[in-house]
Amino acid sequence: MKKNVPLVIGADGQLGSILVSFLTASGAEPWSTTRRETLVGGKKIFLDLIAPATWEWPAGVTSAFVCAAQASLASCEYNPELSREINVVRTLGLIERLLADGIFVVFPSTNLVFSGNTPFAREEAQTSPFNEYGRQKSCVEEELRKFGKNAAIVRLTKIVSSSMPLVKNWLSDLGSSQPIHPFADMSLAPVSARFAAEACCRIAELRKGGIWHVSGSRDITYADFASRLAEEKGWSKSLVQPVKAPDYDFPRFTSLDSVRLQQEAGLASPDLLHVIREIV
Ligand SMILES: NC(=O)c1ccc[n+]([C@@H]2O[C@H](COP(=O)([O-])OP(=O)(O)OC[C@H]3O[C@@H](n4cnc5c(N)ncnc54)[C@H](OP(=O)(O)O)[C@@H]3O)[C@@H](O)[C@H]2O)c1
Repeated sequence: MKKNVPLVIGADGQLGSILVSFLTASGAEPWSTTRRETLVGGKKIFLDLIAPATWEWPAGVTSAFVCAAQASLASCEYNPELSREINVVRTLGLIERLLADGIFVVFPSTNLVFSGNTPFAREEAQTSPFNEYGRQKSCVEEELRKFGKNAAIVRLTKIVSSSMPLVKNWLSDLGSSQPIHPFADMSLAPVSARFAAEACCRIAELRKGGIWHVSGSRDITYADFASRLAEEKGWSKSLVQPVKAPDYDFPRFTSLDSVRLQQEAGLASPDLLHVIREIV
């Protein structure tokens, strides 16, 4: 049997870094990419998606996780041309070359390809993004669907970990008895970084393409999530002081139906307590 040789593209980000750790812990010896010159070395190689498309990956790679992206909603909204060039044009160009080389591709997408008017959107539901980030992801998805079995589109809900800036600030403030002000009317369906990585790796192992959903088990407001986090850590819940979110578009629901992940990959959506306990 051919040895599994993974490549994590964009390994310094939240998902890429946990994927490298997860793969390494499972003995896979992944290659990875960075756009920070100082981090190049060993199995970490340089890639800036905006550079000319002549980049070559190491020989023998069997699967690629394409995590490099302008992943901030604000940078997509306020700089649509540059973000689209990276997130759509360059990303698709690279993925097409990887697929042509027989490499199985995992493309992380998002619940924001949907409007969020209903909970637990299904894989086959019509996409209806309401912001530029969602439109860019939807655009890549549409192209990748033509590649069928060798490309997996993995729609993830919010990945929470202690390296996520919002959670990092909450932990720091609550830990020093400072109040925090999470949104009372904005929801997330959180998954832990470890679960997100495990799901992506399992999908790559199965080499089954098409659309996959990786979601928390339900929607919860940021305020309720913060309260549960404070409670679990033994801090006073009175420090969690909810506020109304600013008046811009955000989805009412973010959860995704992830029956396929459960049935074909054997991974059930994590419950809230499980997700919170993985934040260390
Ligand atoms: N985190 C979530 O909750 C979540 C949920 C759903 C989907 N996703 C998707 O998962 C993927 C990874 O997300 P993430 O949270 O890990 O994002 P992230 O933390 O912002 O990481 C993105 C990585 O891409 C790199 N990058 C940006 N522009 C690049 C370029 N031109 N060339 C090469 N690398 C570039 C960044 O490099 P630097 O570190 O040097 O800036 C960074 O390491 C994204 O496609 C995102 O949309 C994430």
